[in-house]
Amino acid sequence: MTFTNKSEAVKILKGLPNRGVFLPSPVNNPLSASIRNELRELKLKRIKFETPSKFNFKYFVWTLFKENQLAVCEQPFSQFPLGWNEFDEDKGTPPNRAYLKLWEVLTLGYIQLSKDDVAIDLGSSPGGWTWVLSQQVSKVYSIDKAPLDKNILKQSNIVYSSEDAFAASPQRFKDCTWLFSDIICTPEKLLWLVNKWQDESAVKNFVCSIKFKGMCDFDILKEFSKFPDSKIIHLYQNKNEVTWIKQEK
Ligand SMILES: C[S@@+](CC[C@H](N)C(=O)[O-])C[C@H]1O[C@@H](n2cnc3c(N)ncnc32)[C@H](O)[C@@H]1O
Repeated sequence: MTFTNKSEAVKILKGLPNRGVFLPSPVNNPLSASIRNELRELKLKRIKFETPSKFNFKYFVWTLFKENQLAVCEQPFSQFPLGWNEFDEDKGTPPNRAYLKLWEVLTLGYIQLSKDDVAIDLGSSPGGWTWVLSQQVSKVYSIDKAPLDKNILKQSNIVYSSEDAFAASPQRFKDCTWLFSDIICTPEKLLWLVNKWQDESAVKNFVCSIKFKGMCDFDILKEFSKFPDSKIIHLYQNKNEVTWIKQEK
């Protein structure tokens, strides 16, 4: 939309339903700042983790394309303003912040877990993911060469084993329905592991962090994306890694 002066721009934005969120624009920052001063913007609230999630942000996004041109998106693709996804964190039990990745996967509905599920968590130490999973499924096999945090280990539905996750035989875990992996390893090694579990187990559902050293390797991501019903997401909570998710339909 074009506008001739600041008041016109403010009038356009104030006329929209819901509150606005400003997408930073390189165009005339003083002008956008002064327009923002006139608007009631959406306040970002931390999300309470609950499944199913009850969050419901209603907002539009706007920015300046030119000094006389506004762009507005009234139905943003992201459920969260600008992909923002900050949780009301649990500062007590989880031993690190890795659990936030699984909270995001569950909150955004990328996967659905049930109490009928049994999960294996590879590369699980100190236990953030295992802790989240233990609340969602009936049993969690938790595997790492490093120990689990003692508060996590004492949960009755967690079966921890100290071993090399790449050497663990899938046949030992016949009741598993989900495989989770946050192992630090090359994408190639993770792909080998996923193929092994696809071939040697009944597990059909996966959530795996694909971690990079330096640049993202798009060729290996193409290999992961060949698995049917799978997707690759860069979560808000991911750093130099992406999350590969496969849930059987
Ligand atoms: C990023 S941490 C996992 C954090 C975990 N998801 C959590 O929420 O606490 C990566 C883990 O991979 C484990 N790891 C790396 N190579 C492994 C291997 N060959 N077998 C088992 N665990 C391994 C490391 O010991 C480390 O604990």
